[in-house]
Amino acid sequence: MIQITYYGHACFEINTNGKSMLFDPFIRGNELAKDVDISKINPDYIFITHAHADHTADAVEIAKQSNATIVGMFEVCSYLKNQGAPNIHPMNIGGSWIFDGIKIKMTPAIHSSSFHDGTYGGVAGGFTVKTNDHHLYYAGDTALFSDMLLIGKNNPIDLAILPIGGNFTMDYNDAVEAAKLLNVNKVIGVHYDTFGLIKINHNEAINAFNTEKIELNLMTIGSTIKL
Ligand code: NI
Ligand code: MN
Repeated sequence: MIQITYYGHACFEINTNGKSMLFDPFIRGNELAKDVDISKINPDYIFITHAHADHTADAVEIAKQSNATIVGMFEVCSYLKNQGAPNIHPMNIGGSWIFDGIKIKMTPAIHSSSFHDGTYGGVAGGFTVKTNDHHLYYAGDTALFSDMLLIGKNNPIDLAILPIGGNFTMDYNDAVEAAKLLNVNKVIGVHYDTFGLIKINHNEAINAFNTEKIELNLMTIGSTIKL
């Protein structure tokens, strides 16, 4: 069993086997997530897809309070270590590692990756997460790309967490194509509504997926689902 809690924008927590994995923490800077208290978030690991502030802003603060290990691209980890992160585990695209029984693989993404001060963050990525009973894919910020076909090829994905807001990433129509390449029928949408440029019509997004018999879940911020 896994639990997924949504903290707004592209930030969510996966709990399984007594371990907590937080992805792309950007909470205090998100007006829509103002009711989320970051002092109560205590992950074992913090996975970062790329350097942009809307994926990293609260990483060091949460890592310090929880003693979590930050996992991500080599350059991103080095930068966050310099900012005070207590523990890091650098990776790169295509690499995988088993963290407390959970296999994480870093996947490609088509996106940029630099910190707000201009520091190079390597290339952007995503993650697959293989637990006892699930295989999830979190795309990170990315355009649609045809290599998504390969991601679940030998190990089917049962849930994909995809950006749907457009402008900076694929929009929901491209995310429908992504879901088809991944061969998944369950999607959680992220990276929408936070800023004016990525506001979407929820019903239109849900209908675009439903037309292809794919379920789109637009989670309420602070809510948890069980799988
Ligand atoms: Ni980005
Ligand atoms: Mn972003």
